[in-house]
Amino acid sequence: MNRPAPTADVLDLAQDPAAVLAALAALRRHDAPTHGGRVLSYVYDPGVPELDALAGDAAHAMQPVNGLDPTTFRSVAALERDVVAFARDLLGGDADTVGTVTSGGTESCLLAVQSARDTWLAARGLRPGEARPRLVAPVTVHAAFQKAAHLYGLELDLVPVVAEGPTAGAVDANAVGARLAGGPQGADDVALVVVSAPSYPHAAADPVADVAALAAATGVPLHVDACIGGFALPFWPGLPAWDLRVPGVTSVSADLHKYAFAPKGASVLLHRDRDRQRAQYFATTRWPGYPVVNPTLLGSRSGGPLAAAWAILQALGRDGLATLAGRARRATLALRDAIDGPDGIAGLRVVGSPVGPLLAVAADPAVTADRRVDPHVWADAVAGRGWVLQAQPGLDQADGTRLPHTTHLTVTPVTDGVLGELVPALRAAADDVRGRPRPDAGALLGALPPIDPDAPLDSATAAELLDGIGLGAGDGEPDAPSVGPMAPLLALVEALPAALVERLLVELLARLVEPRS
Ligand SMILES: Cc1ncc(COP(=O)(O)O)c(C=O)c1O
Repeated sequence: MNRPAPTADVLDLAQDPAAVLAALAALRRHDAPTHGGRVLSYVYDPGVPELDALAGDAAHAMQPVNGLDPTTFRSVAALERDVVAFARDLLGGDADTVGTVTSGGTESCLLAVQSARDTWLAARGLRPGEARPRLVAPVTVHAAFQKAAHLYGLELDLVPVVAEGPTAGAVDANAVGARLAGGPQGADDVALVVVSAPSYPHAAADPVADVAALAAATGVPLHVDACIGGFALPFWPGLPAWDLRVPGVTSVSADLHKYAFAPKGASVLLHRDRDRQRAQYFATTRWPGYPVVNPTLLGSRSGGPLAAAWAILQALGRDGLATLAGRARRATLALRDAIDGPDGIAGLRVVGSPVGPLLAVAADPAVTADRRVDPHVWADAVAGRGWVLQAQPGLDQADGTRLPHTTHLTVTPVTDGVLGELVPALRAAADDVRGRPRPDAGALLGALPPIDPDAPLDSATAAELLDGIGLGAGDGEPDAPSVGPMAPLLALVEALPAALVERLLVELLARLVEPRS
């Protein structure tokens, strides 16, 4: 019998892989440097090339694995067990402490809130949507908790923090206590209290033990957000207990992709109590597919970030983490001294008493305007010298006080090796701009047509407004400056109504990733 000859089934790649990788490398050249300490936010460079190589190899080994099902891919469960045990031992947990590896700080915070909300609802025989419990937290709590309140239908009850002096940026425990006592039903409508160890904006250490005592007395759970401090503060000398050692702390988040130096995509959420962790799971058998049991927000998930984080913890161990945290601490103290010490930078001051490897810098209100250094104008001048600092807006608090606009520095182990270049750049930039005020947002606002801040803005109008203030989409080339100097942008952020500026920023970022043709 004559069979037809099989047709050739040849896979022709549209592009040679080497050419694809070359194109990727060309795009990467437009990125801010991730290594070497030039960018003092977003990236956490331990300065140990072997760790990068190890993380890459571990992630590659796990690349095809689907973390969705640890019964099929058994390595996932083994790795997660190890990482949770490491974090539990480091953060004061005990044999009953349980946890989950998530995709990052935001996911850990979201899940802490979801678990608290669902536990609160279940205790009252309610279902989501039938009540809006409160989430009580300082105004400095990470924006991930605003997102969580938004997504999970909680009332966000933000407590002003101390605005001035040595405890600036930290919340007063009594102010939290007043909120616990002050709801319509006392503390009964509070699903969760959150404090930070430390806060991202100012590296302020909230008074964990005092808040925990108040929360425990009213039966409210307390989450400590140690996303940024979790793998550094255990090696900071002289701190009062802030983790699961403190009675009343019910959960802690700590990011592996920050001071455990894992590639992005890894954080740990620990719960003191098994049942609260179980409340974080989503499970359903009510569809005609496989039974779904998700401990995190994603379904299918890469095993890569988990494997990379696991490998780094194995390689470093506690001692390695302590050594790297020690380098970051040395650099942080040196920077603090360079700005605030006896021979510091005139016109600037460090906010409060920062704890951990980060700090915020504000203008010094104690000097005359001609001697003052605006922190955002300074950050732009520092950027001109090749170092990227992060501008943070000021904030009017509900008690009438104002948190000043600041510039944030996240300090990593590599910073210690580049202080000899960084400190002179910080000084020289301050000398360049001393006495120069921040841009006048009024002039920028004058370029805008009258806007009703309450009217919804469509995409085309938002784009027109962005063009009007010189923040249009640009020509689409990756090397085209996407935003430019921070001082005018942040002045605008503070001057415009929040809802309007948030909508404009959405438009700016959304247009950045729209296909160009
Ligand atoms: C205290 C704190 N919480 C939460 C987050 C959110 O983490 P991620 O950016 O990994 O989602 C951060 C990030 O800097 C943080 O500092």
